[in-house]
Amino acid sequence: MSSKLTLPLILLSGLIFLAQLSFSTGQTVVKGAYWFPDSGFPASSINSSLFTHLFCAFADLNSANYQVTVSSSNSAPFSSFTQTVQKNNPAVKTLLSIGGGNANPATFAAMASQASRRKSFINSSITLARSYNFHGLDLDWEYPSSTTEMTNLGSLLTEWRAAVANESKASGKTALLLAAAVFRSADYYTINYPFQAISNSLDWINVMAYDFYGPGWSPKNTGPPAALYNSQVSGNAGITSWIQAGLAAKKIVLGLPFYGYAWRLLNANNHGLYAPANGSAIGQYGDQGYNQIRNFISQNGAQTVYNATVVTNYCYSGTTWIGYDDTQSISAKVSYAKVTKGLLGYFAWHVGADNSNWALSQTASSTWG
Ligand SMILES: *[C@@H]1O[C@H](CO)[C@@H](O)[C@H](O)[C@H]1NC(C)=O
Ligand SMILES: *[C@@H]1O[C@H](CO)[C@@H](O)[C@H](O)[C@H]1NC(C)=O
Ligand SMILES: *[C@@H]1O[C@H](CO)[C@@H](O)[C@H](O)[C@H]1NC(C)=O
Ligand SMILES: *[C@@H]1O[C@H](CO)[C@@H](O)[C@H](O)[C@H]1NC(C)=O
Ligand SMILES: *[C@@H]1O[C@H](CO)[C@@H](O)[C@H](O)[C@H]1NC(C)=O
Repeated sequence: MSSKLTLPLILLSGLIFLAQLSFSTGQTVVKGAYWFPDSGFPASSINSSLFTHLFCAFADLNSANYQVTVSSSNSAPFSSFTQTVQKNNPAVKTLLSIGGGNANPATFAAMASQASRRKSFINSSITLARSYNFHGLDLDWEYPSSTTEMTNLGSLLTEWRAAVANESKASGKTALLLAAAVFRSADYYTINYPFQAISNSLDWINVMAYDFYGPGWSPKNTGPPAALYNSQVSGNAGITSWIQAGLAAKKIVLGLPFYGYAWRLLNANNHGLYAPANGSAIGQYGDQGYNQIRNFISQNGAQTVYNATVVTNYCYSGTTWIGYDDTQSISAKVSYAKVTKGLLGYFAWHVGADNSNWALSQTASSTWG
C-alpha cells in the first residue's frame, strides 16, 4: 500500500472510531415511557423511579421556517419537565419528542428535502433541548413514505449526529441522545428505512409495535391490537425485520401500548379473537387507556382472557369487546425483548394511562429486572 493512501486511511478509520465513540458511552437499558400534557396527568405525578428514560411529547415543526418550537401552552410544563421528573429519580433521562401522530408528515418531508431546512431543524432542536435541560431528542416523523423521503431522513440523521457531536465538543456537555420512533417494521409498506444512517447516527429506535388492529381500520372483526405473535402483522415480525435489516438488537426498543381498542360484537355470544364485529364500541376509534379498561372491567364484571400464544389480553361484556395489554402481555413482551431478542429495552405509550397503581409500569420494570 502506498504511503499516499495510508495516511488518509488512518485518518479515516480514526474519524470513524471517533464518530462511534461519540455516542458509544450509551445506555445499557431503556425503560421508557412517553408523557404528553393533554393526557390530563401531571408530569409531577409520574413515578419516575420505574423508568430510565422519559419522553416529553410533542414539540412542533414550524412549516414556514422549519424550526422546532414548543407551543405556548406547553412551554411551562416542557421547560420544567426534567427537573420535575428528576425529583423522584435523579438518574432519569429525558428526551424531547418532535412530531407525533397528529403532526403533518408533509412538513417533515419538506424539511428533510433541503440542506438549509435540515440545518434549521437541527440547530433549533439542539438549542431548544439545551435551553429546556433535556438529555436528548426524539424524532417522531409518522411516516416517511417514499424512497426519496427515506433517503432524506438518512441525510437528516447523519447531519443531526454530526451537529450534536459538534455541540458537545463546543459546550463541554455530554452529547445529547438521539432517538427516533419508527414504524413497526424496517420498511414502511415496502419502502425501506435508511438502515445505515439509523445505525450510525441514532442511539436507538423506538419501534411502534402496536395499532395492528383497531375498529377504525379493521371494523369487521375483533383482533389483537398489538399481538407479539400472529400470522398476519405482529410485534415479533416487525422486530425481526429490523434485526434482519442489520440493526443491532442493542439499538432497538420495543413499544408497549398502555391502551387498547373497543369493538362492538355482532353477537355477544361470539367473543373470541377475530369474532365478527361492527366497528367501534366507544367513540370513533375505540381507543381506551389502560385505566379506563380496568374501570370498564370492574364496573361491568367483564370476562377477561389472556391468550399466551398471540400474547394479548382481551375482555368482553355484552357486545363490547376490548383488546389490550394487561400485566401478562406486558410481562411476556418485556421478557421477549430482554431474553429472546436481546433488545436495548422497551417504551410505553403512554405513562398517563397507567396512573392508578402503576401495574403495567411496575410489571415491565420488574420483569426486566
Ligand atoms: C414507585 O415505584 C417504586 C419502585 O417500584 C415503588 O417502590 C413505589 O412504591 C412507587 N410509588 C408510588 C407512589 O406508587
Ligand atoms: C445555531 O445557530 C446560531 C446562529 O448561527 C449559532 O450561534 C448557534 O451556535 C447554533 N447552535 C447550534 C446548536 O448549532
Ligand atoms: C462543526 O463545527 C465546525 C467548527 O465550529 C463547523 O465548521 C462545522 O460546520 C460544524 N459542523 C456541524 C455539522 O455543525
Ligand atoms: C353496524 O352499525 C351500523 C350503525 O353504526 C348499522 O347501521 C348497521 O346495521 C350495523 N351492521 C350490522 C351488520 O349490524
Ligand atoms: C389464542 O388465539 C389463537 C388465535 O386465534 C387460537 O388459535 C388459540 O386457540 C387461542 N388460545 C387459547 C388458549 O384460547
